[in-house]
Amino acid sequence: VHRKAKRSLSDLYLNGGSRLFERPISTSNLVRPDIDCFLSYSRRFFDKGQYSNDGPLVQELEARLASFHQVQHCISFSNGFWALVLAIRCLSVPVKKEVIIPSLTYRRLGDVVSWAGLVPRYCDVDYRSMACSVETVRPHVGPETALIIGVHPIINCCDAPELELLAEEESIPLLFDSVESAYETVNGKKVGSFGQAEVFSMHASKLINGFEGGYLTTNNADLANRLKAMRGFGFFGPDNVVELGTNAKLNEVHAAMALASFDGLQAQVDQNLRCYRFYQKQLSELNGIKLVEFYELEKTSFKNILVELTEEWPLSRKHTIDYLNSEGILARPYYSPALHMKSTVYPVVCGALPTTEYLSERYMLLPCGHLTSLEDIEVLVEFLSFLKTNSDILMGIQKK
Ligand SMILES: Cc1ncc(COP(=O)(O)O)c(C=O)c1O
Repeated sequence: VHRKAKRSLSDLYLNGGSRLFERPISTSNLVRPDIDCFLSYSRRFFDKGQYSNDGPLVQELEARLASFHQVQHCISFSNGFWALVLAIRCLSVPVKKEVIIPSLTYRRLGDVVSWAGLVPRYCDVDYRSMACSVETVRPHVGPETALIIGVHPIINCCDAPELELLAEEESIPLLFDSVESAYETVNGKKVGSFGQAEVFSMHASKLINGFEGGYLTTNNADLANRLKAMRGFGFFGPDNVVELGTNAKLNEVHAAMALASFDGLQAQVDQNLRCYRFYQKQLSELNGIKLVEFYELEKTSFKNILVELTEEWPLSRKHTIDYLNSEGILARPYYSPALHMKSTVYPVVCGALPTTEYLSERYMLLPCGHLTSLEDIEVLVEFLSFLKTNSDILMGIQKK
């Protein structure tokens, strides 16, 4: 598609010009595996006539993911959300009420804790890693702490081994929300076997696309068996209902999609790396927009593009994103507002979180993933330059 670069402000979509991207480009991964690969996996469950309930593809997927994460057990779920809820129920210390989570994260993580019947207690994040750390979690540990959830940020990982030490020292169970770090290593060790368990998502926006889906990895066989029962109504053998059951199973067609996407994982990571290198090059010439770099001494999937709007960037983040969105560039603010900034229908525990509040105002995610090409990135960065060059007039328009 030939796109006409913006030459004057009258070319802006908001001023009646044509959109830069008729098909919007987004910050989601949206991997589209080879359709024949997806169909050939699907034929297997279809021919067998088993669509759910621990079918052959779910079993194969779980075995492959366990091996990928170098862990003994993998239990799949209908999504990451319910994998987290059930894991919290199983792992939290009985009677105690609070689950420590960072506030600069997935906007529904507080809800997850509340669905598990507990109270989120928000902690701050480290300024450099943008992740919760021993220093930010420790002040919140107290007599009511039932569980700590270490959450990996979108770029790079939190210091999982250090959090393990803290949890051990305080005798508090530790769960990881590793939705953003399926491919990564920490200190050379594959994400998947830190803490008591780790949870991942296979939503279409994530690295492995199962349309929807989630999974948990653990080396604890009892936990794995309990969760397997809970996700499937609480059945333990025919007609024997135990546990608090729910229906949070992954079905076969989702497993087929996840397997096809998993087959193409390395190709996707290679493409992500090409995009990331291209962004690095293009943005190096644009003062005011600073790329958050991946830590390349670890294994990483280069899956998202996060930038900081520095002092040299003349427009507010909101206005920048509004202009980008209007042209079909679906940039998004990074974890904003932070969780503790929004009122909730459930109780929370929260003190001052200055680093979280500072960081939640300054960053944005830019398009990437399977459907964003190098040419798209070139057009996008050119448009950012255009906004900067014309910022005086644009700011005047905003004030009116
Ligand atoms: C950090 C984090 N945790 C949990 C989830 C929930 O995963 P799912 O969408 O599979 O329910 C998400 C989803 O975006 C997430 O980003």
